[in-house]
Amino acid sequence: MVRAAASLFATLALVTGPALAGDAVQGKRKAMSCQACHGAQGLSMRDDAPSIAGQSEFYLSKALREFREGKRENEMMSVVARTLSDDEINDLAAYFSSFRIEVVKPRP
Ligand code: HEC
Repeated sequence: MVRAAASLFATLALVTGPALAGDAVQGKRKAMSCQACHGAQGLSMRDDAPSIAGQSEFYLSKALREFREGKRENEMMSVVARTLSDDEINDLAAYFSSFRIEVVKPRP
C-alpha cells in the first residue's frame, strides 16, 4: 500500500513536473555513479552495499540526507552523498523507488 502510494506519487511527479518530488528521468542519469556498488537496477553488486531498488522514495531520500549531513556515516556513502544537492537526492530517490520488486517466498 505504502509502495503503491509512493509509485503513484512518483508517477504524478513525472506528469506534473519537478515541483516537490524528484524526477525519475533525471535520477536515472545520475544513477550511473551508483552502479558500481548498487547495480544499474539498484540491486547490490557487493556484500556491504544494500539493494535499493523498490525502496520507498521517502526512505531513500532520508538515508541520502543523513549521509550528507553526517547523521549517518559510511566511508563510501558519506563521500558519495556529500556532493549531492537536494534536487539530485530527490531525483535519485524517485528513480530507485520506481522499480517494482517481486518477492518469491521460500518453500518452508
Ligand atoms: C563505492 C560504493 C558505493 C557507491 C558508488 C554508492 N554507494 Fe550507496 N551505499 C554503499 C554502501 C557500502 C552502503 C551501506 C552503508 C552502511 O552500511 O551504512 C550504501 C548505502 C546506501 C543507501 C542506504 C540504503 C539503506 O537501506 O539504508 C542509499 C539510499 C544509497 N547507498 C544510495 C546511493 C546512491 C543514490 C548512490 C549514487 C549517487 C550510491 N549510493 C553510490 C556503497 C556505495
